[in-house]
Amino acid sequence: MQSAECKVKSVRVKDLRVFHFVLCTLQSALFILALPGIKTANAEDAPPKLVGSASCAAAACHGGLAGHKFVGSEFPIWAARDPHSRAYSVLRNDLSRQMAELLKLPKPAHESAVCLNCHSPATSTDSKLSSVSGLVPLAGVDCEQCHGPAERWRTEHVRTDWKPRTADDKRRRGYRDLKDVLTRANVCADCHVGGPGRDVNHDLIAAGHPRLFFELSTFHANWPKHWPAEADAKRHPVAESATGSVFEAKSWAVGQVVTAQRSLELLSQRAELAKREPAKWPELAEWNCFACHHDLQSASWWQSKDAAKRPRVSFGWNAWPYAMLDPLARQFVGSGIEIPQAELARLRAQFVTPILPADMVSRDANVAAQRLRAAAERFNHADAAKHVLSPKSLAALRLAFVTDEGPSLVNRDWDSATQLFLSLSALQHSIIASSDTVSERDRQITLVLDSMNETLNFQPGLRSPRDFAAQPIDRLQADLQRLQKLLDGSPKN
Ligand code: HEC
Ligand code: HEC
Ligand code: HEC
Ligand code: HEC
Repeated sequence: MQSAECKVKSVRVKDLRVFHFVLCTLQSALFILALPGIKTANAEDAPPKLVGSASCAAAACHGGLAGHKFVGSEFPIWAARDPHSRAYSVLRNDLSRQMAELLKLPKPAHESAVCLNCHSPATSTDSKLSSVSGLVPLAGVDCEQCHGPAERWRTEHVRTDWKPRTADDKRRRGYRDLKDVLTRANVCADCHVGGPGRDVNHDLIAAGHPRLFFELSTFHANWPKHWPAEADAKRHPVAESATGSVFEAKSWAVGQVVTAQRSLELLSQRAELAKREPAKWPELAEWNCFACHHDLQSASWWQSKDAAKRPRVSFGWNAWPYAMLDPLARQFVGSGIEIPQAELARLRAQFVTPILPADMVSRDANVAAQRLRAAAERFNHADAAKHVLSPKSLAALRLAFVTDEGPSLVNRDWDSATQLFLSLSALQHSIIASSDTVSERDRQITLVLDSMNETLNFQPGLRSPRDFAAQPIDRLQADLQRLQKLLDGSPKN
């Protein structure tokens, strides 16, 4: 993966991913409930402790300034370019101040566990993952948050006998094998989806926090890295090909399933919490935002004058984490990938009314999450490159998403349309990465995807799809038809 061709490909990723995730500050047309209380943290106790990532930054370790492009320079790359290094300082900005005020936090945001648990866990006083005394934590999302608490591997990992150790041995010491896509996806989901002690709920969103939209392959592509991206590609070769990589498709598939799984676990935790604190239920962030927030002025998704084109916006489940599950279930039927459609359908049915039985929701969400865990493992398996993620399978998936699944996803809502676009982008990139040349057809497809990107992006300065001036559904359907024409000549297996 070091040819000039590959450089073109990586530019393409960037082109394909200029998608911006933005705040969903919507004009509220409907006020139903009063602001419920703030959720409190209850982080799980994890056995190995943090030692403070400042110790990683020594010049001889990961703090080197010159020399190698990546190796040894992880700290300066993180400090200069990685948004995670700024995650603490944003807690001192105006938006955070506003949030702390609206949420009536007893302390400022940069001292409050509700914020620090994601933005700077090592400095969170409340977090049970607190620092071992004597060592200085780095503020922000620091090295140990991803690589694992280093109490039992910091001294060991610089010895010559570290590399040959098994992944299991390293894991037991608290070191996370981030080379593994599934492990990596779960680490990101800890903060980008949420979990115990880490909850971007409707209270935070209403106070101004961005709604969390996680999609692994996109976030990964947009993230300034402190290791060579070619390493990921090389670790995930296309079966029987010297150059191709299945990394992109795998991170998309694993990411979709893990995001849904972790969202279900969060739903279950929220429902369990409600048993003790009924005022915190139902959690509004679990619903489709537009069920309650519609802007009656502008012509946009949910208010087409043409009733036939208007998506049904009634009460409904938050579409973002689950939009691609049914399409995945249909496309992978008989392949051993099992998506728990019955539980998901039962859950979805609960969300059509504003009354949610916490017990049933918690149970179904747990069962569904458990089964999705198995599906994520299947996509993550080394064999996946030969079967479910083979070039042939990815091409079939792309065709099916464009022709069979696309039109209804685009009609449904912005979340579903955007997930379709991100899925097509990941597949497209993976298909390009698995062959040696970029065909004219692939170039054309990429242009159509750019056009979809533009339609879905919010205009500069605007923060929600409410601000669309034109009718986006028609434009997206037209783009799908263009894609269909371009794909017509492709083998349909
Ligand atoms: C579940 C983890 C989580 C919690 C809890 C959380 N945040 Fe965040 N926050 C994030 C993530 C992830 C982002 C980046 C969102 C994105 O771009 O997808 C973010 C973004 C932000 C931003 C925007 C940053 C920017 O660069 O524009 C601000 C400000 C912010 N958070 C403040 C807070 C405050 C204040 C609190 C506590 C009241 C808080 N956050 C709690 C995870 C969290
Ligand atoms: C947001 C998550 C995240 C943070 C924060 C983070 N890393 Fe990483 N790091 C990764 C991922 C993912 C990889 C790629 C997988 C791999 O190579 O192990 C990686 C790779 C590395 C590698 C290469 C490992 C190898 O075996 O090739 C080093 C060294 C490293 N990181 C050090 C650091 C240091 C030092 C910090 C803090 C300054 C840091 N990382 C912060 C996620 C993170
Ligand atoms: C400990 C919590 C935590 C973990 C783990 C974490 N992140 Fe983040 N991430 C954040 C926060 C908080 C922000 C917002 C930082 C800011 O805007 O200042 C963020 C921001 C980002 C952004 C920038 C988003 C934007 O809108 O510009 C990307 C990309 C990102 N994270 C990717 C990842 C990936 C990929 C992983 C997993 C390998 C990961 N993160 C793991 C907390 C985390
Ligand atoms: C069941 C109805 C309901 C749902 C679903 C809902 N909200 Fe709200 N939202 C409200 C109400 C009522 C308020 C005003 C009270 C408050 O601040 O909580 C509000 C306030 C807000 C505010 C504060 C600014 C304003 O317009 O008043 C934002 C931003 C917001 N919601 C975003 C969202 C997002 C994003 C989602 C989806 C994740 C969502 N809401 C889902 C009912 C809802």
